[in-house]
Amino acid sequence: MSPSSVVLYIVSLLWLNLTDAKTGYFWHITDLHYDPYHNSPEFHRGCRHNRANNEHSHHNNRHRDHTCDSSWTLIQSAAALMAERHPDTLEFVLWTGDILSSSMEHASDRVKLEAVRNVTDILSRTFSSQFVFPALGHNDPPPSRKLVDMWMQWLPTEALQTFETGGYYTIEQSHSKLRIVVLNSVLWSGGATTSDNPHPHRGRTQWEWLEHILIKARRKKEMVYLVAHAGPGVEERHNAGSSTAAGGGELTPAANARLLHVIRAFSDVIAGQFYGHRHADTFRLIYSEGRPVSWALLAPSVTPRGAGSVSNPGLRLYKFESNTGKVLDYTQYYLDVTNTRGELHWSIEYNLTQYYGLREVSATSLNALAERIRNHHDRSSFAKYLSALRVKHSTDISDCDSACVHVHYCAITRADYSDFRSCVRNPASALASRAPHNSAAIFLYAILILIS
Ligand SMILES: *[C@@H]1O[C@H](CO)[C@@H](O)[C@H](O)[C@H]1NC(C)=O
Ligand SMILES: *[C@@H]1O[C@H](CO)[C@@H](O)[C@H](O)[C@H]1NC(C)=O
Ligand SMILES: [Zn+2]
Repeated sequence: MSPSSVVLYIVSLLWLNLTDAKTGYFWHITDLHYDPYHNSPEFHRGCRHNRANNEHSHHNNRHRDHTCDSSWTLIQSAAALMAERHPDTLEFVLWTGDILSSSMEHASDRVKLEAVRNVTDILSRTFSSQFVFPALGHNDPPPSRKLVDMWMQWLPTEALQTFETGGYYTIEQSHSKLRIVVLNSVLWSGGATTSDNPHPHRGRTQWEWLEHILIKARRKKEMVYLVAHAGPGVEERHNAGSSTAAGGGELTPAANARLLHVIRAFSDVIAGQFYGHRHADTFRLIYSEGRPVSWALLAPSVTPRGAGSVSNPGLRLYKFESNTGKVLDYTQYYLDVTNTRGELHWSIEYNLTQYYGLREVSATSLNALAERIRNHHDRSSFAKYLSALRVKHSTDISDCDSACVHVHYCAITRADYSDFRSCVRNPASALASRAPHNSAAIFLYAILILIS
């Protein structure tokens, strides 16, 4: 150990004692995509339609099928796993939307709400003494009095007011300095065919509200979790190099740019960002003047049905310092859909810090991981990343050449849509644009060591 690291070590020991860090846990569950028609041959819309055209259709056990959304049985098994792995210090649950299968798109509002109620009921039975904080996705019913009635068990009056009009809200933790900000990304999303925002007015109101909340949080020295269905950045797998991900639920280019601007401006206040939507286990980094200043972790879906790709169902349990919000680690659970013989067996896929060899969960350490992921000479970090991205559905990386690795790297490190495009087009410039900052950091570090 060098003298400077000894000093750091002692300082951090003292710091730990002074702050009396309390360890807590929270679940992040997302994209359940419950399909009530899963087992009913007559109404088996999305699922049967897809299965008819798919080689996987010979599977008898429908929950095994990667072309089908979640059956009730699958949702029950997820709830059972979460009940079984219930830590004593479970503080809350983040539930980031897409509750319903897209095969319910044409179902009546009554049936949709009944399905949402059934999922709500099983979650409230599973978490009888915790609060679940829901965020709305593009497949969910819009905010309404009926949703308010369903979720008033979890949300305080103040939160219900903004939820009912805009689908967004904030939760102030009474015993800590952590504030949860749940956004309605649907208000900032384009439709499936246009990048125009169909909710201009409510979208604007949400921006003003968010900035107001963040300014207040900074003044009160709170740390904030940003939580939403869709976060900033691009979909790496099937929009490589295209303008933006045009699919339903993506942020419009203007909304993406503005959200990145807000995140940069308040990166001192934002302790973490938690999103779903992509049906993939991945992360995004946000930079300010070349320096990584904020991270977003994207949890994989509960449904095995991917958007153009396949993965296994996943559930994620975070470990954090409950008084500060500092994320320490997470345990990723998964269910091996194709290899399960009959019963649904969830197991641990990996633990974040151990799996990638991270000293901590921070923008700096995740940035170092991103650099390892793109390393041409040692593909081991990329192999881990790709296996996690697909929730261990496949560990074969031979279908991803160095250009493909580069697209993944660009998606992680270029949340800005046009930066992503130029990164994909020009691997060399991506290297060059980052180099000066790296050498500046090494220079600073050398000075620090000299001083100490
Ligand atoms: C909701 O649950 C009830 C009771 O188990 C069941 O009868 C009903 O079919 C379910 N509806 C939907 C849409 O899931
Ligand atoms: C991951 O962390 C959990 C909870 O701390 C622990 O029980 C488990 O043994 C760890 N698993 C692995 C594979 O490291
Ligand atoms: Zn989804």
